[in-house]
Amino acid sequence: MAVRRTREDALSGGDPLGDPAAFGVWSETRDEAAEIRMKELKVAVIPGDGIGPEITESAVAVMEAAAKKFDLPLSHDSAPAAAAAVDQGLPPLPDHTLKLCTDADAILCGPFGDPRWDNAPPAERPERAKLMLRKQFDLFANLRPVKPVPALIASSPLKQDLINGTDILIVRELTGGLYFSDPRGYFEDDAGRYGVNTMKYHAWEVERIGKVAFEAAQLRKKRVHSADKANALEVMQLWRETMNNLHASSYTDVELRHIFIDNCCMQLVSRPQEFDVIVAGNMFGDILSDIGAQLTGSLGMLPSASLGKGTPLFEPVHGSAPDIVGQGKANPLALILTAGMLFTHAAKRPDIGEAIDNAVAKALDEGYRTADIARGNGFKVVGTKEMGEAVLKHLQ
Ligand code: IPM
Ligand code: MG
Repeated sequence: MAVRRTREDALSGGDPLGDPAAFGVWSETRDEAAEIRMKELKVAVIPGDGIGPEITESAVAVMEAAAKKFDLPLSHDSAPAAAAAVDQGLPPLPDHTLKLCTDADAILCGPFGDPRWDNAPPAERPERAKLMLRKQFDLFANLRPVKPVPALIASSPLKQDLINGTDILIVRELTGGLYFSDPRGYFEDDAGRYGVNTMKYHAWEVERIGKVAFEAAQLRKKRVHSADKANALEVMQLWRETMNNLHASSYTDVELRHIFIDNCCMQLVSRPQEFDVIVAGNMFGDILSDIGAQLTGSLGMLPSASLGKGTPLFEPVHGSAPDIVGQGKANPLALILTAGMLFTHAAKRPDIGEAIDNAVAKALDEGYRTADIARGNGFKVVGTKEMGEAVLKHLQ
């Protein structure tokens, strides 16, 4: 495929499509390097805010048990970020936390966010630390699988026959678009104060995330829905055009369908089985993944992996749930499943990832439920710790 270098590529010192490391753990080169390094898997743990520390305890115990069961040497070290760091008089992303992440093979990260900053401008909010980490390591590819666990199908607010067989991978662009483009900020003109954010995508950014989506689809059901808003936005016209060119030049074995984002939201709740891989820009992908979470019964069930050039980052899709902090009832499963994705993608051990998925499924089959997924009767409604232990049991 002919790839045109842009000024940005030249400035960043590498052609994002020509550089195999641009695809992180998926490239051959990284594979080999990973094999050599896999003598020990070094994980930087950032518990985060709100329910973060509670669910991290369970997820780390599961991670340790899984590594032990599969004889994979594992070390982990934790450091604060976001509100947890600010409360210690540190910046949201302290230098030593960043250094720990840089030196690690993977980052396991809890949710960031604290209601004390509810009225603060985005640049001062604790969530900013997450965006900084994503940008710092150029983690442009955010994988958010939406696959309801069979035992939980009845927990979804949607009808059971509508969700049966749903298996979607949302591929969200994570380092560009509305979240990161300039101009941004607060300004003033004759009509008063105004705020600005910009949705900008270079063709090379669309190409690199499109490539991830097509290659993921090649290993799945070979269908990509590209969610855009090409009927209203120039940036999305370019997105569509670029996806079409990439498809025609390299991925004709995959079916490409374009879908407007508003229609995509509707189809996601009315015909979720139609989807295989959905690729979307940063903002649209953020929204789609919360809708997707409801198909699985709870936002407390959705894991994610963010891959790119630097240390891969693994985080749940949900937030810090300030309303239930310290009550020991948060659902640790999204972060536990996230630890599974860490083994699959950062350690190249899908067998360990699968063992964690299975252990979660078994705990749910036995009837264990945290409050958020205990829709119906006859369940053992448990807290964070007990749920973690119910999963652990199947990994020992
Ligand atoms: C997510 C979250 C973050 C995002 C917030 C916390 C900045 O909603 O990971 O989905 O918008 O990316
Ligand atoms: Mg979100």
